[in-house]
Amino acid sequence: MSAPLLQVEDLRVTYRAGRGTVAAVKGVSFELARGRCLGVVGESGSGKSSLARAILRLEDGVAGRVRFDGQDVRALKRPDLLAFRRRAQMVFQDPIGSLNPRLKVGSALAEVLRVHRLAKTRGAAAAQAASWLETVGLDADYAGRFPHELSGGQRQRVNLARALCVGAEFLIADEPVSALDVSVQAQILNLLKSLQERRGITWMLIGHDLAVMRHMADEVIVMKAGAVVERGAAADVLARPVHAYTKELLAAAPNVGRALDRRGSGPAVWD
Ligand SMILES: Nc1ncnc2c1ncn2[C@@H]1O[C@H](COP(=O)(O)OP(=O)(O)OP(=O)(O)O)[C@@H](O)[C@H]1O
Ligand SMILES: [Mg+2]
Repeated sequence: MSAPLLQVEDLRVTYRAGRGTVAAVKGVSFELARGRCLGVVGESGSGKSSLARAILRLEDGVAGRVRFDGQDVRALKRPDLLAFRRRAQMVFQDPIGSLNPRLKVGSALAEVLRVHRLAKTRGAAAAQAASWLETVGLDADYAGRFPHELSGGQRQRVNLARALCVGAEFLIADEPVSALDVSVQAQILNLLKSLQERRGITWMLIGHDLAVMRHMADEVIVMKAGAVVERGAAADVLARPVHAYTKELLAAAPNVGRALDRRGSGPAVWD
């Protein structure tokens, strides 16, 4: 067994709010092996996004340890910090808010490639951008479109292309489909799963829907009020939840999970 890609130990996030403080994450620990998907579930306000931002060093007021590929993330300084920012990326809920409305998507990707010096010439950047669009299931012609000329699902594909093109090996997808039409949600989730399988991407999927987790996640952690109340292999936790809170979450009717269920759970689903 190789060392885990991500090791989180006693991670805490505390916000200042008004005259007091809010303990949003209260000592979370877990490890995530390369090429695996960790599902993070829990009710609204349980600290899922705070945990994600703390791992990616997007948050102040953090205590505890985060190791990524053996490196202490909270101690990283340039240029190692910049390398970490390329390797570990976040995919957000709102696909349009994350794209520059004035840039055609091909130019947006090409610009990212140029900034990170991953393409020597404009022509090379454009060619790589087109190829990344194809990786996420978009025809290269989409390079010529503005974000508002795409559907929500297509925009989320562009966001994934942007994360991948700089060399992301680790993605945290924070409710990546909740802003999308139900019919499109399964497509984007299947794309994420196929990136895990085809490209060895390691990822965390944050969401409310445990039925989705059964299809996507290898392991899950269940968060409540900033703490992990249940953890384990996704199949076990979802088939035999121990904690009453997990049972409650399971009882809350899922939508996309059912759509995925209808399509079966064999490998063909992820193509
Ligand atoms: N910037 C902030 N300042 C103060 N409190 C915050 C801040 N961000 C989050 N919180 C608080 O921290 C707690 C956890 O919030 P967080 O956004 O991590 O929850 P979540 O599990 O992602 O919820 P949701 O499912 O609604 O996205 C909540 O009580 C929230 O009000
Ligand atoms: Mg959140």
